[in-house]
Order: sequence, then C-alpha cells, then structure tokens
Amino acid sequence: MCGIVGYIGKQQAAPIVVAGLESLEYRGYDSAGIAEISDSSAFITKQAGRVSGLKDSVAKNTHTSHVAIGHTRWATHGSPTTANAHPHSNTDQTIMVVHNGIIENFQAIKTKLQAEGYTFVSQTDTEVIPHLIDYYYRASNDLTLAFRQALQDLQGAYGIAVVSTHEPNKILVARLSSPLVVGVGKGEYFLASDPSAVMDYTKEVIFLNDFDVATITADGCVVHNLKQEKSSKPVAELLDYDSQQASLGDFPHFMLKEIFEAPATIRSASLGRVKAAENIVKLGGLESVIAQLKYIDRIVIVACGTSYYAGLVGEYLLEEIAGIAVEVQLASEFKYRNEPFSRSTALLAISQSGETADTIAALKKVEDYGVLRIGIVNATGSTIARMTDAGVYCHAGPEQAVASTKAFIAQVTVLAQIALSLGSPSNKLFKPLLQELEDLPAKAQQVLDTAPSIKKIAEKYAHHRDFLFIGRGYSFPSALEGALKLKEVSYIHAEGYAAGEMKHGPLAMIDEHFPTFALATDSVLLDKTYSNIEEIKARKGPVVAVATVGNKAIAKLCDDVIYIPATLAQTQPLLEAIATQLFAYYIAVAKDLNVDRPRNLAKSVTVE
Ligand code: M6R
Repeated sequence: MCGIVGYIGKQQAAPIVVAGLESLEYRGYDSAGIAEISDSSAFITKQAGRVSGLKDSVAKNTHTSHVAIGHTRWATHGSPTTANAHPHSNTDQTIMVVHNGIIENFQAIKTKLQAEGYTFVSQTDTEVIPHLIDYYYRASNDLTLAFRQALQDLQGAYGIAVVSTHEPNKILVARLSSPLVVGVGKGEYFLASDPSAVMDYTKEVIFLNDFDVATITADGCVVHNLKQEKSSKPVAELLDYDSQQASLGDFPHFMLKEIFEAPATIRSASLGRVKAAENIVKLGGLESVIAQLKYIDRIVIVACGTSYYAGLVGEYLLEEIAGIAVEVQLASEFKYRNEPFSRSTALLAISQSGETADTIAALKKVEDYGVLRIGIVNATGSTIARMTDAGVYCHAGPEQAVASTKAFIAQVTVLAQIALSLGSPSNKLFKPLLQELEDLPAKAQQVLDTAPSIKKIAEKYAHHRDFLFIGRGYSFPSALEGALKLKEVSYIHAEGYAAGEMKHGPLAMIDEHFPTFALATDSVLLDKTYSNIEEIKARKGPVVAVATVGNKAIAKLCDDVIYIPATLAQTQPLLEAIATQLFAYYIAVAKDLNVDRPRNLAKSVTVE
C-alpha cells in the first residue's frame, strides 16, 4: 500500500526520503515521488514505476534542501501514471501534499473547488487536499489554520504530510485511521507511515493518534488533537527494531528467508512465556486483564487473509484447550454485521502489520460496547497494538514478503499459548501441548530440511492451472491457508476445502488435470481423509499429500508425499504451513514470478 516518508533538519533531505521510500518498497506500490523545499522554492520529482527511477532523477537535481516529503503510491483512484503519482500540489505549486488512505467525499469537494475556479490535473482523490488548503489559506494567510480547516471537510481515512513555500521550514501532518510516526533525531525529525523507514536514523518515535495534527520543525514537534481540541507535547517511545532482520542475507527472496525463520519464530514467540518443566505458560501482555478474562464465555476473532486462517486454528485450540466458545469472522464482514454482543464476549484481533484497515474498523465498531479488546500483533507500536486493551506480541520480526509466512507461524504459536493460559492445567492436553511448543522449533527445522524434495514436487506441478487443498480438523485451516499461499504467489487458481465437503460439490471438478494437495497427517480423522483421497484417485485426480513420517501406506495411495515429523494434532498446522509455504514458493520460482511482490497485492492493506 502507499507509503509516506519525510525529513526536516540539517542534512540534505532528498537522499534520506528516497532511502525511506526504498525501505517501504516491500509494501507494494506503482509510482513514487518527492517534494523538496529549497530557499522558498518547491521542487517536485515524481514518476510511475520503481523508486530506483525516482532516485536517479533526484540525483540529477542540483539544489540543496533540508525539508522534503516523499510517497510511494498504490493506485486506487486513477491508474499508475506520473500525473496521478504523489506529491500533489495546488496550481501555483506553493502547497505540496502526500496522502495515504481515501478521501471518500473528494468528488463533492472537487466540484465545489471547480466552481471556485480550481483546475485539476490528476484523477486522484488526493489532489483536492492541496487545493482545499490553498482555498482556506487565501482567506487567512495561516497555513496551519488552513490545514486544520481543510481537514474538517475531509471524510475518509488519511495520513497526510504537507510542505509549503508559504512556511518553508515546517512539515504539517495529520492522521485519521492511517498510520504515521514521527522519528525524533538530534535537531532533525523524520516522518514515516511505517517505523521501519526511519529505523536507520532513530529508534525514538512519536506515534500519532487519530485526529492528531502535528507541526514539525527542525527544533520540535507539536501535536494538536482536533477532536479533543487540545495541544500536547508528544512523548517519544523507544522502538526495539533490528534492521538486520529486514535484509535478505544470502536468500534469493524474502519469502524463502522468512519461511526458513520458522524455528526461530516459534522460539522467539515462546521465549519467557512457555515453561514446560514448570508446567506454566505466562503471557505478560494479558496480565492486566486477567480478572476480566475470567468472565469471558465467548471470543470473537476478527482478522483478514492469513491472519484469519490463523484465527481458525485458534478457534479449534481455544475451544478444545480453554473450553471457550469461539467464532472467527472476516474483519471486512464483521464490521457491517448487526449481531448481539454482550460484555462476556471478548474481541480478539489478529494482524501481522497491526495496520489492516478492516481489522481496525472491527475494533472501532465495538469501541463503545465495553467489551474487552485483545490483540495478537507482530508490528510493535502499530495501530492495533495501541488500540487494544491488552495483547500478545508475535515477536516474529519484520516480515517483508507480501505473502505472510512466519507471521502465521507466530500467530498460531501465540494462539496455542493463549488457549493454554485460559485453560486448566488439569486438561489432559495441557502438559503435552506445553512440551510440544518447546519441541517444535527442532521439528520445524526438519520440515525445512526437506525443502529440496518439496522443490522437486513443486516443479512437477507448476504447469497446472488449478489446485484443490483439503484437510480435516486442525488441518482444515491449513488447507485454506495453503490455497491462499499458492494463489497469491503463483497465480494458480487454488481452493481450500474441508475434506468432508468433497462429495458436496468439489469432487465434480476432479479429473487427471486437476490436482489435489491433501493434508493427511496422523490424527483420529486420518482414515476419513484416506477415503476422500481414494475418491479423488478413482477419478484420476493427481494427489500430493502431506503426511506424518513413517506413514508408508499413503505413498501407495498418492502420487507424491511430503513427510513432516510426528506432532500433536493441535500443532500440525504449524508444520503443515511450512510445507505448503515451500510448495507455493517453489512453484512461483519455477514460473519465474515476482515472489516477494505478487501482482496487484500490497503488504499492508490500509484501505477498505
Ligand atoms: O497485516 P495483517 O495480518 O492484518 O494482514 C492480513 C492480510 O492482508 C494478509 O494476511 C494477506 O492475506 C497476506 N498477503 C497473505 O499472505
């Protein structure tokens, strides 16, 4: 999705802003641009395509500038052209704006401004902002006032940064439902929609809240909240961020690197939390709400995409281990549903980025219901992490590939821990599951060690157009997630199904050209899954199975088998996910696709 970076201080601003834009490239974008202020003149450089192109153009500039804002755009209103790229400006280029989010009432504002004589050169919603600020500025000659007045007219979601030749030594920013942080340096400030873009310069960041308007100069940052009508001195937080984790190392793609981080991810998510020898699981992030949790008899999990599928595994875990009724809802559906909600229900939001618009909206929906809101989030300090009452961080480190891999591993690990912490140690699964969480990193490594044979199998199936993924019990969410992974990186049509549903429709698709990926690991339901595989084989459908080491029978039944170590049914989704992730990865590589940045997708979906 779109990214914002800004700088004000003593250094040359453009290289810092461009480097920040480069670090946001992984989020997905199609054009990029920068506005610099130099001696009360504005310089706008923007173009469709990669940041590297922008970097080359900016390098040709000869002016000096200590104030700049930049943007990577992921097209929503209007195609990815230079004209639609940000920054946008008013007609005489005295006010420059970059914007993330959507201005829902832009058409009405545009019509009003056109009637006032304003002309527009792009198809974007964003372009109304500089013109609107210009409109108000003409009446007051006060940029801050004009900006605030313009904001009052905007409906939708935004992270906005403004620079202007009228007041050349400041950056104005505003936030509503779209993340923005201000990095604090010595005599300099950085601005970014994602803290990772400023982490090479400072670890001290100010998180802006909804309705905050900040005025940033080289000497300070003042924040005014439009809703509360008050100004405050913002407090910077120290972020724990290892920029090494965000680099490729020796791996050809981030997706592969992140899949190979699975053992470390499970270890890191369990560190200090899981103590099998003492029979305890300790989640510091939930301690403040432990009393409230005692009265919870229903949990609604809200999430999108892969995080939603992790939630489905969580549903099985929480019901079986903690005995609490769970419902998992797609955040995009939850927010528009009218369902009865009592205070004995808790809302659990799962999100890698912590910035997914629909998940944020789901949390906002219950803001006034008085229900407990818990988060399972990877990105520290993100919007969801800050808006929930309590939560458990995934500690998976930065995830760069658009396809979520290690985050799923961390989310399921944390869900197992939450299930244990809400359950009773007398549950017969308590001790074995606790022990298994400690043993899992080694087992995850064993799955990774089979990568060369998974690669061979993937290459054999890379030419297929369709794929079905099936599983039962804990392996059903694995089937859904496996299908999502395959379709998003390989563009192969893939569907996940509960194996028991085959005869209710999907079996009709099966023939020798339609392969099935069967999650057939050891469980009480394995015989039933065998029957489903038999039905597929009877119709000549090729079958790749994931099975538990030692299962020789399945090799006779299926065309290809990927073996994973024996584990509890409750932890099978973790090992199965590594197998399906590798399978999807190697198919995408075989098809020579852009694995880390699949077409049409963005890493963090910050608009509805
Ligand atoms: O950051 P989140 O976990 O909230 O993101 C949710 C989905 O957008 C995300 O999982 C998406 O489905 C991934 N591309 C899947 O690999």
